[in-house]
Amino acid sequence: MEVTLAEIDRGNWLAALELRILPEQRAFVATPIFSLAAALVRRWGDEYVYAPHLICDGPTAVGFVCTVCDPLTADEYWIDDILIDARYQGRGYGRTAMAEVLRLMLREYPRCDTVKLSCHADNAYAARLYLHMGFKPTGQLNTASGHPNYELTGDALRAYRAA
Ligand SMILES: CC(C)(COP(=O)(O)OP(=O)(O)OC[C@H]1O[C@@H](n2cnc3c(N)ncnc32)[C@H](O)[C@@H]1OP(=O)(O)O)[C@@H](O)C(=O)NCCC(=O)NCCS
Repeated sequence: MEVTLAEIDRGNWLAALELRILPEQRAFVATPIFSLAAALVRRWGDEYVYAPHLICDGPTAVGFVCTVCDPLTADEYWIDDILIDARYQGRGYGRTAMAEVLRLMLREYPRCDTVKLSCHADNAYAARLYLHMGFKPTGQLNTASGHPNYELTGDALRAYRAA
């Protein structure tokens, strides 16, 4: 497995639109086309950098992730949407891609001290993955999604810089 993150551009965007999750997972995450549209209109505000990426294994697109970050802050760094195509789930791509995303954020944003995400209350599989990676529930519900927020902060986050 050789997982890399490729910025979405005019050369690879159609591969993002071909990614599919299971029907029962559709409530858990936005589709890549929705996520790309949200980035285009700067849905969460102009202060954020929107960075949609393909998750690749070699030449194969296996998933999609979009980060939304305010580089002037310490704690406004969101993994907004992440999905692995149903054909490739359960093989370690989600965990490996999450670690790559955290490394990317730490590399690109020197002020980043906290990474946040929101996870649907019924998405036990994803929540378990986040907990295993060091994320903690904040106890707050996300103001947009209404689902629990999680964050990875301090030394638990910095561990990914070295990894
Ligand atoms: C959640 C998701 C990104 C995880 O990616 P993945 O590649 O399937 O996950 P991985 O193979 O890296 O496995 C991660 C963990 O789940 C476990 N796992 C794998 N397949 C599983 C399954 N079918 N059921 C339960 N657990 C499973 C793995 O053992 C691993 O556990 P660990 O943390 O103890 O090591 C992916 O399943 C997905 O895209 N789901 C639909 C969209 C979604 O829910 N996105 C998240 C929005 S918050």
